[in-house]
Amino acid sequence: MSSILKQLQQQFSLALVAAFGEEFASTDPLLAPTNNPKFGDYQANLAMSLAKPLKQKPRDIATQLIEALDVSDLCFPPEIAGPGFINLRLKPEFLQSQLQQIQGSDRLGIAPTPHPETVVVDFSSPNIAKEMHVGHLRSTIIGDAIARVLEFQGHDVRRLNHVGDWGTQFGMLIAYLKEVYPNALTQADALDIGDLVSFYKQAKIRFDDDSQFQEQARNNVVKLQSGDAETRQAWKLLCDQSRREFQKIYDRLDVDLNERGESFYNDHLPQVVQDLKDGGLLVEDQGAQCVFLEGYQNKEGKPQPLIIQKSNGGYNYATTDLAALRYRIQEDGATRIIYVVDAGQGTHFAQVFQVAQRAGWLPENVEAVHVPFGLVQGEDGKKLKTRAGETVRLKDLLDEAVNRARMDLQTRIEAEERSETPEFIEQVAEGVGISSVKYADLSQNRTSNYVFSYDKMLSLQGNTAPYLLYAYVRVQGISRKGEIDFEELSNCQLILSQETELALAKHLLSLSEILDEVAQELLPNRLCQYLFELSQKFNQFYDQCPVLQVEEPLRTSRLVLCDLSARTLKLGLSLLGITVLERM
Ligand code: ARG
Repeated sequence: MSSILKQLQQQFSLALVAAFGEEFASTDPLLAPTNNPKFGDYQANLAMSLAKPLKQKPRDIATQLIEALDVSDLCFPPEIAGPGFINLRLKPEFLQSQLQQIQGSDRLGIAPTPHPETVVVDFSSPNIAKEMHVGHLRSTIIGDAIARVLEFQGHDVRRLNHVGDWGTQFGMLIAYLKEVYPNALTQADALDIGDLVSFYKQAKIRFDDDSQFQEQARNNVVKLQSGDAETRQAWKLLCDQSRREFQKIYDRLDVDLNERGESFYNDHLPQVVQDLKDGGLLVEDQGAQCVFLEGYQNKEGKPQPLIIQKSNGGYNYATTDLAALRYRIQEDGATRIIYVVDAGQGTHFAQVFQVAQRAGWLPENVEAVHVPFGLVQGEDGKKLKTRAGETVRLKDLLDEAVNRARMDLQTRIEAEERSETPEFIEQVAEGVGISSVKYADLSQNRTSNYVFSYDKMLSLQGNTAPYLLYAYVRVQGISRKGEIDFEELSNCQLILSQETELALAKHLLSLSEILDEVAQELLPNRLCQYLFELSQKFNQFYDQCPVLQVEEPLRTSRLVLCDLSARTLKLGLSLLGITVLERM
């Protein structure tokens, strides 16, 4: 089934051709849902934009259009408002039949895209031996949600973790590893060096006050790059250790990622330089190989170079990203490449994309986009820190959310005089805690900074995970109370008579439009807003319309509305990486 919006758009195309001729077949009807019920459910604004090409008044155009428009199955007769807006109000019978059609469908009637693409989502991407910080957490959560939506739509999504696993810092780390664990390299293929972050700090201290150690570090860089076996082994031990730590976070967040770190592209870097040279883009500047950027100037107003290869032969972050971009297009066959990386790297990506375009590696039919996000702030509006002023470890942050969720739950259990098993409490606390962290992040427009507040994210009121999870639980409660097996309800007749029922029905049927929007604009907060409104509309309906106590056939019809609300919440939340609970 195609979305209501698409069905209406189709009718508009037909009407455009009938009224004004074939050349108007692909005119955009500029059709959008209205925010105000006064204007119906959808409004089309095309009459205004056609005034010029048709040399007619918008109202006259609108009149001709609605004469040719056949939407009588879907809507009441269209109305013209203001200068020439066309307002459309959906008929209850149409909504009823649409809801009836989606009842039996796992995908709630949402067809996969007819144009599947190969899409790379580059997200999470922490750095080996460094802290995986809240910025990476944001990238992980937002990237996962974007990937899930695109996967649901039927795209072939490559979830790539562009881990920072290469670079000169490894010289220092390896030198230090060889010093403190001299036997490590001959012994094990796994080594527990504990907290890699403090290992990094210790290595750095060592590096900063010993010039001989610095020399060793530099030697190790050379050895690593030339493929020396022992040095490679040390590098691998360090990467494995980090990888295990990262994986714990990914498991807890239920996020799938395929690691393809910076080191993966090493062998491709010389070719990047060579091809840029052959393409006439490379200029030597103070011994370094550079591309001079268009539209970027340094302080003296001169064109700014992007260094591709340093004078010592080393490569940069940007060089690796150029190699990666090319690989993803040529080898993976990606036609869309999405980088979920903090807003601070906007310039980096703009420059990489520019060079790739000029080199002919980024053809017109491929979209490379940086999906930026803002900072995570503490409640004081400053960068998120612990009380002691240190960076917050992700594990601690997740633990804290779960602990608080557990305390809230215990308070509720006591107040309601329920008795629950420890397993139940653990499962709900973990579920609510993690979901709250995810949802708090996703529900913000990602481009703004976001204030991290446990109190807000765990509240049962407002646009929060607990509020949405609770709406779902409420429906499951109805089924338990009425001993109803929702799965047995199929193909039931729906009757929409109350305002709240109609509002809920319309909302239920607009999920696929929202998903299209999220996939297009890569803003998961749209889906959050949709689900929040769905919960509100469900609660309004349920507060005003008796369900279990009402006579048939209304009873079944309302039960179906409850079930569809729950299933829509479950599906929508799953696309945000959030799993519903049956009770909480
Ligand atoms: N490792 C980088 C960082 O922590 C992020 C990498 C993002 N992806 C990329 N293709 N550059 O800042």
